[in-house]
Amino acid sequence: MAELIDGTVIAQAIQDELGPRIQRIAGTGIPAGLAVVLVGENPASISYVTAKERDCEKVGIRSFDLRHPASISETDLLALVDELNGNDEVDGILVQLPLPSHIESDRVLERIAPEKDVDGFHPLSLGRMLLGLPTLLPCTPQGVVEILQRSGNDPDGKHVVIIGRSNIVGKPLATLLTLKRPGGNATVTVCHSRTPDIAAVTRSADILVAAMGVPGFVTPEMVRPGVVVIDVGVNRVADDTRKSGYRLVGDVDPAVASVAAAMTPVPGGVGPLTRTMLLHNTVVAAERRRGIT
Ligand SMILES: NC(=O)c1ccc[n+]([C@@H]2O[C@H](COP(=O)([O-])OP(=O)(O)OC[C@H]3O[C@@H](n4cnc5c(N)ncnc54)[C@H](OP(=O)(O)O)[C@@H]3O)[C@@H](O)[C@H]2O)c1
Repeated sequence: MAELIDGTVIAQAIQDELGPRIQRIAGTGIPAGLAVVLVGENPASISYVTAKERDCEKVGIRSFDLRHPASISETDLLALVDELNGNDEVDGILVQLPLPSHIESDRVLERIAPEKDVDGFHPLSLGRMLLGLPTLLPCTPQGVVEILQRSGNDPDGKHVVIIGRSNIVGKPLATLLTLKRPGGNATVTVCHSRTPDIAAVTRSADILVAAMGVPGFVTPEMVRPGVVVIDVGVNRVADDTRKSGYRLVGDVDPAVASVAAAMTPVPGGVGPLTRTMLLHNTVVAAERRRGIT
């Protein structure tokens, strides 16, 4: 059976490392601060935002809770971002997606000052990442790299197959893994919905990352013995035995554990790392803004 890679333990270790840095930032007179902007009442978004604010509180980062009705205009939302860009107590700005359809998400994300772009979605942040320059990296891809390195599965020299080419997971992860730097140096293949015979590709993987949003897509027949599997997918499936009426499952069939060498669970795998890398990015942004090296 595959070793289960516990994302909660890895996330806690990273948070412990952030502790002294957060204290040092606070010692400059202004604690590290994260502004969390939520528009509308999407239940999933509310629970994500609440969790992020709780994470901040736990590690000593100040969070600013900015909730607005779905009726807010794009102009007013852009004005709020401008205000946060100029607010010295705010080191990071997170605008929870999705935004209502009358608001152009790209325009809002591009308005965030790159030095406060703790989600790492700004075109400048992504461009600098592509060039291997210092920048704030997108949280989930960065979290996947941390999981691989800290679980003893360094991607250096390995063939990594990623299923999914989204702007927030698949594409930036492929970029990070091919960079010539620690945590990179992998040979990467990216699959998507137009890839013929995905199983033939996934069977050649040393490390397989599933980031597609299709419950249980990866089956034991699609992997070779000894593969390391990182399951990014978070899918709600109906479950009458739960009070909520659903449970969370990944993109990987749990039966893959009978073939793989190591595997991340859902929940408790990549999710805790995504949240922790947001805290990490807020600390990095706060240090840079205060000239702490
Ligand atoms: N754990 C975390 O912290 C975390 C963070 C972010 C996302 N997620 C989860 O990760 C999953 C992916 O998120 P996302 O935002 O990247 O999703 P997305 O934007 O919908 O992208 C999904 C990708 O998967 C590909 N895909 C979908 N069905 C496929 C199929 N049958 N065969 C091959 N490729 C297929 C799509 O291909 P095309 O491009 O060809 O359409 C697309 O590139 C979701 O379950 C999401 O909830 C988890």
